[in-house]
Amino acid sequence: MCGIFAYLNFRVPRSRKTIFEILVNGLQRLEYRGYDSAGIAVDEDSGKDHTNGGCICIFRKKGKVKALADELDKQTFLDFDKEFEIHFGIAHTRWATHGVPSEVNSHPQRSDKNNEFVVVHNGIITNYKGLRTLLESKDYAFESETDTEVIPKLTKYMYDNRESEDIRFSTLVEGVVQHLEGAFALVFKSLHFPGEAVATRRGSPLLIGIRSKCKLSTDQIPILYRTSKNNKNEGASKAHQIETKNLKCLHPTGEEKSVEFYFASDASAIIEHTNRVIFLEDDDIAAVSDGYLSIHRIETSVGDLASRAIHTLQMELHQIMKGNFSTFMQKEIFEQPESIINTLRGRVNFETSTVMLGGLKDHFEEINRCRRLLLIGCGTSYHATVATRQVLEELTELPVMVELASDFLDRRTPVFRDDVCFFISQSGETADTLMALRYSKDHGALTIGITNTVGSSISRETDCGIHINAGPEIGVASTKAYTSQFVSLIMFGLMMSQDRISMQKRRKEIIAGLQFLPDLIKEVLSLDEKIQLLARELFQHKSLLVMGRGYHYATCLEGALKIKEITYMHSEGILAGELKHGPLALIDKMMPVIMIVMRDPCYTKCQNAVQQVIARQCRPIILCAKNDEESRKLGFKTIEIPHSVDCLQGILSVIPLQLLSFHLAVLRGYDVDFPRNLAKSVTVE
Ligand code: F6R
Repeated sequence: MCGIFAYLNFRVPRSRKTIFEILVNGLQRLEYRGYDSAGIAVDEDSGKDHTNGGCICIFRKKGKVKALADELDKQTFLDFDKEFEIHFGIAHTRWATHGVPSEVNSHPQRSDKNNEFVVVHNGIITNYKGLRTLLESKDYAFESETDTEVIPKLTKYMYDNRESEDIRFSTLVEGVVQHLEGAFALVFKSLHFPGEAVATRRGSPLLIGIRSKCKLSTDQIPILYRTSKNNKNEGASKAHQIETKNLKCLHPTGEEKSVEFYFASDASAIIEHTNRVIFLEDDDIAAVSDGYLSIHRIETSVGDLASRAIHTLQMELHQIMKGNFSTFMQKEIFEQPESIINTLRGRVNFETSTVMLGGLKDHFEEINRCRRLLLIGCGTSYHATVATRQVLEELTELPVMVELASDFLDRRTPVFRDDVCFFISQSGETADTLMALRYSKDHGALTIGITNTVGSSISRETDCGIHINAGPEIGVASTKAYTSQFVSLIMFGLMMSQDRISMQKRRKEIIAGLQFLPDLIKEVLSLDEKIQLLARELFQHKSLLVMGRGYHYATCLEGALKIKEITYMHSEGILAGELKHGPLALIDKMMPVIMIVMRDPCYTKCQNAVQQVIARQCRPIILCAKNDEESRKLGFKTIEIPHSVDCLQGILSVIPLQLLSFHLAVLRGYDVDFPRNLAKSVTVE
C-alpha cells in the first residue's frame, strides 16, 4: 500500500539521467503496492551548487510509474548529463487513501512553493485534521486533500520556529513525528539540508540498503537513545552529534569514503543494488549526513535492541523478474511446484515421517499445553486458515477458531493466556492482522507468525513463527503464498501430533502426500491450455459461482476471490451445504457454476448438490478427480485433477481456479498484476 523509494549517492558521481533511472526503476519494483499515481523529488541544477541550497524539483503524475517516466523524459529544460557527486532523490508510488488519485494528491508532498521540505509517506496520519486546522490558522495554504501534506508543512513550521539556528535535520524530524498519530513510513528531503536524508517509521515497513566499495565502519549500528523527548534541548543534540561522528554510526572507511544508501518499503526494490540491508524498527529515526548513517530513538522501551544489524538478503534478482511469463501472477502460479518444495525443505523428513519447524522449537512445550488455536488473517491468508482448520482439529485434537482479523478486532474476541494465536500474512504488514496480533499479545496469548517476508512487522512482533519461504510474491493476487501457507499450517499439525500413537497412520499418509505434491501440482499446471479454452467460453459472463464443501470450501472462497479481484466479474464461493438455504435462487440455465466434487467424505453430498443445480437447468463445470467416471457420466465439462490425500487435495483444486481467473482477466483486457483499487500490502485499517 504505497511504495517509497529513495536514493542517496555520496561521493559516487551520478548523472541526473542515472538518478532518474534508479528512482523510476525502484518505483517500478514497488508498483504492486499501489499504482494510481507516482512522483519524485530531486535537486535542480540551474547552475547552482546543491551544497549551497539549490532548488528541489518535484515531478508527479497520475497513473502508473510509466506515465511518470514518460513525463520525466519530456523535461528537456533539465541537463540530463549533469553529474552530482552527492545527491538525494525521493520517490513514491501511491494507492490513494485520502484524496482521489491526482497529480496534486501524489507524493512527494511539499511544505511550500519553494519546496523547502518534501516528504514521501506510506500509511495514514489519523490526526491530520487537527494538525491541518492548526497549520491553516498559521497561514499555511494547503494544496492537496491528503493527510500527508501536514507533515512537510509541520516540518517547515517547526523549522521556522526553531530555537537554535543550527538544528539538525534528524532532530527536526524527531520533533515532527512526536506530533503524528497513525501509521507511517516517511522519508524527508530538504533544501536546508542538501545531500542529507532522514527516514522514520511507525507501523509501516521501511528498510535501508547500503552499498559501498569501501569497508564499512561497523555491521551493527548502535542505537542512539535520546533521554529527553524535549527537542528544544539542542545542547543535548550537539553532544549527541559528536557522539554520532565518533562512535555510533555507519560510514565508509579508507581514502575514498564513497557510499550509496537506498531507502525502500521493501527489499524487492533494493536487491538489484545491494543485498546488505537494515530493517528499521518503529520509531527509529535514521539520518544520513555527510555520508554517515546514524539511527536514534526518542525513548527506550523495554526490550528494545541496542543496535540494528546489517542483514544479508537471501533474495535473488531473478526472483523478482517476470522471466518468460507475461505477468507476475502467471509466473507465481507456475512457480508453485518449486515454492512448495521450498516451504517443505529442511522441515519434513520423509524417511522418518517427522516434521521439525525450527522457528517454533523453543516454544514447543508452551504450544503443546495450549487449550485452543486461533488462526487469524485477511483475504487469501484467511482462506488458508479455512482450508486447514479441519486437519488441524484432527491432528491436534484442539478446538481451532478461524478469524478474519478485522472482525476479530471488531468483536473484541475473548483471548486467553492459554490460547495460541497464529497470524497468517504473506506481506507480514497487513494492518488488521498486525492489530489483531498486538491485541492477542496484550491478552497474554502466545503468538505465532506465518509470513513470507523476513523482517516484516508480523514476523518481528510474534513470539515465534514459520517463514513460508515461497519467494517474493509480486502479483497483487496472491497465489503461491496461499499454497505455501496451506502447507505450513499442515506441517504445524504434523509436528504437534508427532508423539501421538493413534495419529501415526494418518501422519504417514499426509507426509507421503506432501512428498508427491510438487509433481501433482505440475500435472495440474499442464491443464493450462484446457483452462484457457474454458475461459474463452466464460469471459463474457457477468457472474461465476464456485461451489463445494468440506476440504474444498476454502477453494471456493479463494477461487471466487481470485476471479473477482482481477476479472471484476461478480463471483461467489458457496458452501454447497448452504445451497438450499438461499443461493439456489441464483441458479438458472444462464448462470455459470463450477462445482468441486472430489473423492472424499463429502463426495455423495457434493453429487447431490450437482443434481440440485442440474434440476434448475444449470450446466455446471465439474472440477473432479482424474478419471472420475461418475462425474464424467453427467455429460458436462470436467476439469480433472490428480488425486492426493483428502486434506491436501485443496492445494491442487485451487490451481485450476487461479489459472482460470488469470485467463479470464487477460481475455477481458485487464491488467492482471495491477487490479483496480487494490494494493498488495494493506497497511491501513
Ligand atoms: C488476494 C490478496 C489479499 C491478501 C490480503 C492479506 O489475492 O492478495 O486478499 O491475501 O490482503 O494480505 P497478507 O497476506 O499480506 O496479510
